[in-house]
Amino acid sequence: MTFAQDIDEIVRGSKAYDNQFFANCRFFANCRDTDSESVSLDDVTTMAVNWYIVTKHFGLSTPSYTGRLARILKYASAEEAELLQKLLTEAASISSDDLGLGHEELYAQYGGADIPLWKRLHYKIWGDMTEKLLRATQSSSYSLDGINTTNAESTGLIHQSTIDLVGKMEGHFDDIVGGVAVYQTVESIAYNIVMAYSDLMKRFTQGTDPVLMPRDLLYLEIHKPLEKDHDVQSTHMVDTVKKYYERKQGFNEEFRLEMIRKVRGICKSFGNFWDSINMLVFKELTREPPI
Ligand SMILES: [Fe+2]
Ligand SMILES: [Fe+2]
Repeated sequence: MTFAQDIDEIVRGSKAYDNQFFANCRFFANCRDTDSESVSLDDVTTMAVNWYIVTKHFGLSTPSYTGRLARILKYASAEEAELLQKLLTEAASISSDDLGLGHEELYAQYGGADIPLWKRLHYKIWGDMTEKLLRATQSSSYSLDGINTTNAESTGLIHQSTIDLVGKMEGHFDDIVGGVAVYQTVESIAYNIVMAYSDLMKRFTQGTDPVLMPRDLLYLEIHKPLEKDHDVQSTHMVDTVKKYYERKQGFNEEFRLEMIRKVRGICKSFGNFWDSINMLVFKELTREPPI
């Protein structure tokens, strides 16, 4: 196995990749209406607000990481620059997808052709759906843009595990290895996240008076194909950063251990986040073991 495959295995074997929450979402998609009564719109709305914080921080952190790579690239030797350029291209490509650039056909396919570019930032698309849920529950007087990790506690909506996860990701974007560790973890689990949320949202798009229309699921639909690409790209990033360190200072044990430690740490934070979201949404309903 290559080093990148080893890292991939760590993510796939963790609670970040599959967990009780995802399992319950799968169960929920196929259960009878009476079973689904116990999942409340209020709780799913709070979940959406927490995910808004996570997806916003990730989406707004990756451009500064690519900026950091570009600055390091400027002063790198020709041999190092070749690999840094590759890493920058991969990181920027994922980042630009999250900023809503390109992939016109995907937006058009799922009813988002009319969305102006400045509203296509993915966290904003998720935010539009979340605002709709907030209006439907009338449970919050907060504007979504006004909720952040600083005032989170006073809103009572943001979980400690969300704040911990966001802090962990942001701290890791301060260095090359940490940034790749975040990309690799997030992009390896992203497809499963999208599928779990899609299962969960089915209830709120069905029935005679649905809370959400198909157009509100744009964030989820466009991510289904995108996340398969991001998964492959982020694994390439692990390969590239390994080659970079080999060329720069020899592939040493220190680099290997740092990558493993950081990926494990982010996986743990995601695992805690999903545990917390599972308790919020499913409470005592927990009944399906993860695969
Ligand atoms: Fe995205
Ligand atoms: Fe992604």
